[in-house]
Amino acid sequence: MRIFVNIMQKKKKIIVAITGASGAIYAKLVLDNLLKLSAQIDKVGVVMSDNAKEVWRCELGNDDYDRYPFTFYAKMDFNAPFASGSAKFDTMIIVPCSMGTLGRIANGISNDLISRAADVILKERRKLIAVVRDTPFNLIHINNMKTVTEAGGIICPASPSFYSIPKTIEAVAQTVVSRIIDLAGLEDESYRWNED
Ligand SMILES: Cc1cc2nc3c(=O)[nH]c(=O)nc-3n(C[C@H](O)[C@H](O)[C@H](O)COP(=O)(O)O)c2cc1C
Repeated sequence: MRIFVNIMQKKKKIIVAITGASGAIYAKLVLDNLLKLSAQIDKVGVVMSDNAKEVWRCELGNDDYDRYPFTFYAKMDFNAPFASGSAKFDTMIIVPCSMGTLGRIANGISNDLISRAADVILKERRKLIAVVRDTPFNLIHINNMKTVTEAGGIICPASPSFYSIPKTIEAVAQTVVSRIIDLAGLEDESYRWNED
């Protein structure tokens, strides 16, 4: 019965990894958007690096990640279901994705839950969306992005667009998050260029 329901509904099992790059607002908005779209989602598992918590506090001035009704896993918890392909999480969003985490994934260094989960998603040929953030990039970053792309991952830079004339910082950040939601295969109403 459970298998039948899962097939019929095709609800997603999503991992959100938050790392210590600038752009905690992107992580916050992704969690907000997933909450709003919960009818399309079976499970959300969240894992944060230590620096992600630091950057969230620094940039957003609170620890409100604690308030989301998702299951949070410790950074070194290899008992988390998505540390194994058998748990069948279909999508992983790393938002924001630091150059350190990108480098660990590109080189197969699965020494924490974030890099292990990404390794699993890639080996199972599922969807990895890495919302990379730094500027400028050095050649090591660029080569790591190339490697992750060749391994099947999607590099989705935290580069906002302005053609929707966003009026607030949140609206600017949402231009990136709407692309992440599209890439994750979730249906949402968002600005579409030249559509009424
Ligand atoms: C306020 C702040 C902003 C940072 N911004 C970035 C960034 O935009 N990109 C990046 O790659 N690292 C950034 N870092 C550095 C990372 O946090 C650091 O390299 C860390 O080791 C990454 O590890 P993690 O991926 O496990 O979080 C920032 C650090 C701080 C404290």
